[in-house]
Amino acid sequence: MYSPKAQKDLIDLSSRLLKNKHRDTSSRSEDFEEIKNLHEAIRYHEWRYYILSEPVITDFEYDQLYNRLKSLEKKHPDAITPDSPTQRVAYDLTKEFPEVKHLVPMLSLDNSYDEKTLIDWDRRVRDLTGENEITYSVEPKFDGAGISVVYENDVLVRGTTRGNGSVGEEITNNIKTLRSIPLKANFSRYGIHKIEIRGEAMINKESFKKLNQRRVAQNLPPLATARNSASGGIRQQDPKDVAERNLEAFLYNVSYAEDRDLKDLLGTTLPAHSENIAMLFRLGFKTPHGELKVMKGIEAVVKACKEFEERRDALAYEIDGLVIKVDQIRLQKKCGYTSHHPRWAIAFKFAAKQATTVLQKVEFQVGRTGAITPVAKLEPVALAGVTISSISMFNEDFINEKDIRLNDRVVIERAGEVIPYIVMAVVEARSGKEEKIRFPKKCPSCGEQLFKPEGEANWRCVNVNCPAQVVERLIHFVSKDAMDIRGLGAATIFEFVQHGFLKSIPDIYRLNYDLIRHLEGWKERSVSNLKNGIDVSRKQPLHRLLYGLGIRFIGETTAKKLSEQIHDLLDLRGWTLEQLMTMEDIGPKAATSIYEFFQAEANLAMITELREMGVNMVFEGRKKSQAGKLAGHTFLFTGTLKMKRGDAEALVEQNGGTLLGSVSAKLDYLIVGDDAGSKLQKAAKLGTVKIIDEDEFLKMV
Ligand code: IVH
Repeated sequence: MYSPKAQKDLIDLSSRLLKNKHRDTSSRSEDFEEIKNLHEAIRYHEWRYYILSEPVITDFEYDQLYNRLKSLEKKHPDAITPDSPTQRVAYDLTKEFPEVKHLVPMLSLDNSYDEKTLIDWDRRVRDLTGENEITYSVEPKFDGAGISVVYENDVLVRGTTRGNGSVGEEITNNIKTLRSIPLKANFSRYGIHKIEIRGEAMINKESFKKLNQRRVAQNLPPLATARNSASGGIRQQDPKDVAERNLEAFLYNVSYAEDRDLKDLLGTTLPAHSENIAMLFRLGFKTPHGELKVMKGIEAVVKACKEFEERRDALAYEIDGLVIKVDQIRLQKKCGYTSHHPRWAIAFKFAAKQATTVLQKVEFQVGRTGAITPVAKLEPVALAGVTISSISMFNEDFINEKDIRLNDRVVIERAGEVIPYIVMAVVEARSGKEEKIRFPKKCPSCGEQLFKPEGEANWRCVNVNCPAQVVERLIHFVSKDAMDIRGLGAATIFEFVQHGFLKSIPDIYRLNYDLIRHLEGWKERSVSNLKNGIDVSRKQPLHRLLYGLGIRFIGETTAKKLSEQIHDLLDLRGWTLEQLMTMEDIGPKAATSIYEFFQAEANLAMITELREMGVNMVFEGRKKSQAGKLAGHTFLFTGTLKMKRGDAEALVEQNGGTLLGSVSAKLDYLIVGDDAGSKLQKAAKLGTVKIIDEDEFLKMV
C-alpha cells in the first residue's frame, strides 16, 4: 500500500502539518494545498491505525490533523470532496434501508465440526475437480455481521447487509463510517472496473467491553454478544450511532470482478483467493491476510484447524471457527454451488463456548470484607476444555434480574480469559420443581445478622471476627501483591486457622514453630522456609502493608499514593475526614473508608501489635535513580492504561524520572490512556506539556 519511502514522506508531511502555526490569513490556494496534504496524511494514519493497528502518531495528534481539516473545510465548503476523511459520518437519518439485490447471492457455508467431515469434503472436492491434491486456504471465520461492498471506478459506491442472501439492505452511509473501509481504492491498477467484496463487520473484544460500560452508565441494557452489537450496529438509523460503536470490517472474499469491457476477471486476472486477499490488503483493506494460510492437502488443513483453535482466545476479535476454501478460483468454478452454499468452501466450527446444565445448589461465601457472594453449584459440565461445577452469581440482583431458580436448567458461557458465568435460565425447560433462591438473613459463617448498605449490591456480615472473613483477610495479607509471604499459602492458612494458630493478622508474627514442626507434612525445611518468609515480610515497604490490611477501596495504587503522603502508618489515626479528602489521588470513598478503619479500636490495636512484632510502618522514601533515561523529566499518567498504573509509575521511578500529581507548568510528559479527561484538556491548553501515549512512553524506557 505504502512504500517505506512514501511512509517516511507522509510522516514528515504530518509533522510539518502539525507544526503549522495556523494563520487565518492564508490564501485560498494555500488552504487548498493544505487540505490536499491533510487528506493524504489522515488517510495514511487511518491505515496505520485501522488496518495495521500500528499507529505512528498519537490519537491526540491525529485529532489535531482531523480538526484542522474540518476547520479548513468550514472556511471553504467548496473544497469538501466525497472522499474526504471528514465525510465518513453523514448527518441524515435513514428511516428505512432500501433493498438491493447482490451481484452474486450471499450464500452461507456448510459446517463441519470434526476431522472426518473435512476428509469427506476433500474427497468430494477432488472428485468434482478431477485433481489429486487440492491447495486450500485456511482463515478465521469471523463472528460478526455479513456485509458486501461494491467499488466502481475505484470509488466505494454501495454497502449492503447480507439480508436474506439474495437481497440485502443498502447501508452505504453506515458502511462509510467504518474507517477500515477505504472510500477510494486503486482497483484500476489491476484492471478492475467493478468489484463486489464480501466481509464481516465486527466489534473487537475491547470495544465491546467499552460499549457495554457506556451503555450501563447510560442506564441502557448491555448487549449480549459482540456479534449482536455488530449486526445491530451496522443497521443503526443514525450513522453517528454506527460510528460510536467502533466497528471494523474484515474483507474475506471477492465475489465479483469485471473490467471495462464487462469481462469476468475471476479465475483469469485474479487466479487465486489468497492472492485476492493479498491484493485487498495492498489496496488498504483490513483482511485476514495475517492469519490466512495456504496449504496442500487436507491433512495439513486438519492440523492447522487444531492449532488455530488454541489461539482463538488470543485474537482481539471473536471468531467461531475457520473457513477452508479451495484456493484456485478456476477450481472453485468447477465445484460450483448447491442452492445453499458453495461446494468449494466449508466452515470448521470450534467447540461451543456455551453449554447448559442444572443448578443444583447455591452456597453463600463470605469474602474478606464481609460481602456475601452466592455461588452456584452445578451438575458438572465440560465447556471449552474444562469441567465446570461452580460459578459465581455475584449478588442478589444478578439472581433476581435473571430470575434464576434452584433446579433450573441454565446456559453457561466461558469466553476466553473471562470467568464463566450464567447467561440465563432456560425457562422453557422448567418442570415446576424449581424453587426461588432464598438469600440468607444471617452470616453462614458466624451467624451474625447481615445487612445491605444503601447503594451497594452485596449483603454484608459486619462482624470483624467472623471466621470466614478472618481466613480471607489472612489470605489477602500474605498475597503476592501485599506482604508477599512465601511459604504461607491459602491451604496453610486454612490449616493454621483450624489448629487455632491463627486468629488474626498479628498471629502470623507470633507463630509457634515448635508446634508447627510437629504437624503432619511439615519438615525442618518447610518450617524454616515459612519462618524466613515471615521474617523477611517485616521489612516490606509501607504501601504493601497498607494494601495488605484490606481496607475497602484501597487498592495497590491508592496504597502507594497514600504511603507517600504519610510518614508513619499510625499518623492516619489523627486525620479528620476532611484532611483525608484533600489528599492527592484519594477519592471520597477511599477517604471515608480509611477514616472508618482508623476509628475502630480493634484495628488500632492490631496495628500496634504488628508494630511491636517488628513490622515496618514507616515510609522510607522513593528510591530515586539519578542516572536513568528519564532523569530530569517529570511525568504524569491519565486515563486507562493497558498496564497497571502502579507498574507504569514504577517504570518512571526506576528510570530516574519524577512523578507529578497534577498538570502544571512543571510537567514535561503527560501519558494518556483511554478515556482521558480533564488532565488531557488542561495539558493541551498549557501547550508546554508533551502529550504521548503508552507505547511512546514504553519506547522511552
Ligand atoms: S466466505 C460464498 N469467509 O460466515 C460464501 N465467509 O456461515 C463466501 N464468514 O455468510 C463466504 N468469516 O458471512 C467467508 N473468512 C470467511 C468468513 C465468512 C465469516 C461468514 C459469512 C457467511 C457465513 C456462513
